[in-house]
Amino acid sequence: MIENKKIITAPIFYINGLPHLGHLYTCIAVDVLRRFEIAMGRSSCASFGTDEHGQKVELACLEALKSNSEEMLCEYANKMTIPFKNLLAAANVISNAWIRTTDNDHKEVASWLWREIEANGFFYEKKYVGWYAKADEAYYREEEVLNNVAIPTGSKVEWVEEDCMFFKLSAFREQLVLHYHRNKDSVQPQSRYNEVLGLLSQDLPDLAVSRTRFKWGISCPNHNDHIMYVWLDALANYLTFLARSGGTFNLIGSMIHVIGKDILKFHAIYWPALLLAAKLPLPKQIFAHGWLLVKETKMSKSRGNFIDPFTLLEKYGCDQVRYFFMKAINFGNDSNFSEEAVEQIYNAELINEIGNLAQRVLVFCYNKYGGTLYCDNTQAEILRDWDVALNNAEHAMKNQDITKYIIAVRKAIMQTNKYMNDNQPWLAQDPKEVMSILCLCIQRMSILLWPVMPHACEKIAAMMGVTDITVNSWSICLAHKISQKPTPLFQMIDNFK
Ligand code: MSP
Repeated sequence: MIENKKIITAPIFYINGLPHLGHLYTCIAVDVLRRFEIAMGRSSCASFGTDEHGQKVELACLEALKSNSEEMLCEYANKMTIPFKNLLAAANVISNAWIRTTDNDHKEVASWLWREIEANGFFYEKKYVGWYAKADEAYYREEEVLNNVAIPTGSKVEWVEEDCMFFKLSAFREQLVLHYHRNKDSVQPQSRYNEVLGLLSQDLPDLAVSRTRFKWGISCPNHNDHIMYVWLDALANYLTFLARSGGTFNLIGSMIHVIGKDILKFHAIYWPALLLAAKLPLPKQIFAHGWLLVKETKMSKSRGNFIDPFTLLEKYGCDQVRYFFMKAINFGNDSNFSEEAVEQIYNAELINEIGNLAQRVLVFCYNKYGGTLYCDNTQAEILRDWDVALNNAEHAMKNQDITKYIIAVRKAIMQTNKYMNDNQPWLAQDPKEVMSILCLCIQRMSILLWPVMPHACEKIAAMMGVTDITVNSWSICLAHKISQKPTPLFQMIDNFK
């Protein structure tokens, strides 16, 4: 049952190249949001998939397989979806659905959406004459083009003439403005919300939603020589996810779409307008994160500066990369990526702060108390600090603010390190109470960090004999049983170079 769950969606990935770090980043962010719900004892689900139609994919297939026949295109798509799916497994991302736009159920859903919009009178046929950028699969107006380049994206444009079906996007401008004025949290962060209002303050031309110059796409119902515009096809995947999960399309109203800032217009303007035209509710929230930059430029397939995500995950470890992305990159803003930065955070925070704290506490308890400790002082101030961290984390994650959530948890980790140093249990005769409090702190740390570093936190829980790594065991003063000598959570960095 998908009802009553926090429903989070990832953008579906283009398959005209291999996955890169930008894709990995999006997947991890969605997974952290989703796992946070699990850690808080609530239900959640997340969808992922691949965007397989369109001219870009057709051209990539032509280049790779020297053919763009239907058969070769299917073969190409079958091959190219795999590394993206593998990326989820490599990054320990839990997914509820893998939606490929070439799946039959998706084709049916997209065709349903088309028919609804057409039946409601929002499509008309017209010849398009103007600028088109293959790289963006989008048309541009005269004022958006300079020297054969689309100003908004920097992509090359060409002059085309094409018979198209148009969507009356212009008819929805006022409704969208009203919706965004009424729902100020519906686009996050605030800077992106302002951007959407800015776009809506301009003229909103009708949108060409079908193509007749190439064939790789879903046939438009009632217009067999047209295929659907790749974005209409792709956006419909969110409905496919609902259909596949047994939910009604009205549940779109509780969806949170996590996307990169480059595809904000498609999600915050085109998609809501299409939904309104089909008489469906609008998504609950769109969160547009920033870009990962390499030496100040966007990492992308076409720029050739992409770093292989599988190599990175293998080299540093999955949890370590997940932590780095969530901690070092301010969620919502652009950030530079470098391996030096990964190593710096690895040493400073994972080894020195988190790993060290867990290791010092658990090894001390194991050596001194033969492994079993019971915490009966839940009023200790340091435990209150963890309550504050929990509250702040919850508050931040209501708005998908991963950065604030991690800041809240790190604060409590630093306070716990200080608590241990101030109390110097290694000098005391019987520091049982301090150690039992510290054990509960470590347990709480594992609950709050599990969404980001599931392996490491499961290891902490296993070392302590804790079976429930959710908030349900937050205040339960368990007897912590450290039955085996604890081993370090993270390897020293030199060991894997
Ligand atoms: N297929 C469309 C999405 C359709 S969703 C209905 C698409 N695909 S993509 O493969 O180009 O990008 C997928 C996601 O990765 C987008 O959210 C995009 O913003 C994100 N990223 C691509 N490059 C990125 C970075 N360098 N940094 C961070 N995210 C980036 O767009």
